[in-house]
Amino acid sequence: MPKDVQVGPEIQDRLNKLAEKYQASGQELLDFLDGLLYQDYNTYWDYIHLDTLLSLQTPVTDIPDEEIFIMYHQITELYFKLSLHEFEQLAADDKPSAASLTTKLERVNRYFEALTHSFGVMEQGMDRQQFLKFRMSLIPASGFQSVQYRLIELCATDMINLVDKDMRDSMRGQEPSEEAMFEYIYWKKGATIADSGHKTLTLKQFEKKYADMIVRHAKRFRSLNLWQKYLLLSEEEQNDQALIDQMRLLDLNVNVYWPLQHYKTSVVYLARRPMDVRATGGTNWQKYLPPRFQKRIFYPQLWTTQEKEEWGKSWVNEVLEEVRKNMASRQ
Ligand code: HEM
Repeated sequence: MPKDVQVGPEIQDRLNKLAEKYQASGQELLDFLDGLLYQDYNTYWDYIHLDTLLSLQTPVTDIPDEEIFIMYHQITELYFKLSLHEFEQLAADDKPSAASLTTKLERVNRYFEALTHSFGVMEQGMDRQQFLKFRMSLIPASGFQSVQYRLIELCATDMINLVDKDMRDSMRGQEPSEEAMFEYIYWKKGATIADSGHKTLTLKQFEKKYADMIVRHAKRFRSLNLWQKYLLLSEEEQNDQALIDQMRLLDLNVNVYWPLQHYKTSVVYLARRPMDVRATGGTNWQKYLPPRFQKRIFYPQLWTTQEKEEWGKSWVNEVLEEVRKNMASRQ
């Protein structure tokens, strides 16, 4: 039998505090001590739900590299969730400062940098012939249907900046509703069949599941998005260079670097002379994915006219040159 515990001043202090805590909500300390007695130790595997996590990879073919494809999409969605977690905290802060916005933005930027750098898992990490086979079993599912990606955009900027670039300026002065802007959101063009103007099945299914939720989110973030939080700052804080740098970096990470890395990867798998391979979402992806075509810019006020005109161009040119070389070597 273990000896009786000596209740010294430290233990007594904790017991008093616990008793106070439970009494405040009409509970008995003794009941909770009993609970502790029977409670099992925490384990790593239960805490992070490891078994569940590792059971979520369910390929639809028996082609080995399909599992890589699934897992990397899941990893990406977790990073998207981390980003949304930061934007939710920003939204909840009604007295933001340049320092608080900068800290949160640094986190989101780190997540997107991790994603851009790790995209090689897709770009180089799968056997192209295996990919071209298993992708046929995935039609019409596409990363295009990633709702978290769309939610991040709406957390980062005013919705008007996500309207198709041909409609953006004419709508800007009209105080449009979220429903009106949703009609012309840039990504619809990316999932519309150019010849007929019809929506692809990928888009129809996505809208059926998420349109209402996206519009609700857009309404909520009308006053809570990052740009609106920035406008709450004093003039001096708005000029804080560290904050401006992080906002500009976010614009590049989400609207240039990640999309270009993704585009580069699509070329590796789908580009083939004389006809490119059809994408699973059925889009004209070559005319849609490169960032220079959409000119998505979260913070147009933070860029010069020239920078906006040449949105990501020098880097785009470098990447396209690399892409061209790769294609030439595969002909
Ligand atoms: C071999 C790897 C990949 C290829 C070949 C590929 C290909 C494509 C293509 C062709 C599109 C245009 C829509 C369509 O027709 O389907 C697209 C869109 C998209 N994909 Fe991927 N993708 C790959 C990996 C990923 C990964 C890992 C993610 C992470 C979630 C992702 C997320 C997206 C998103 C968010 C869009 C919409 C982009 C936008 O609207 O600008 N893709 N993808």
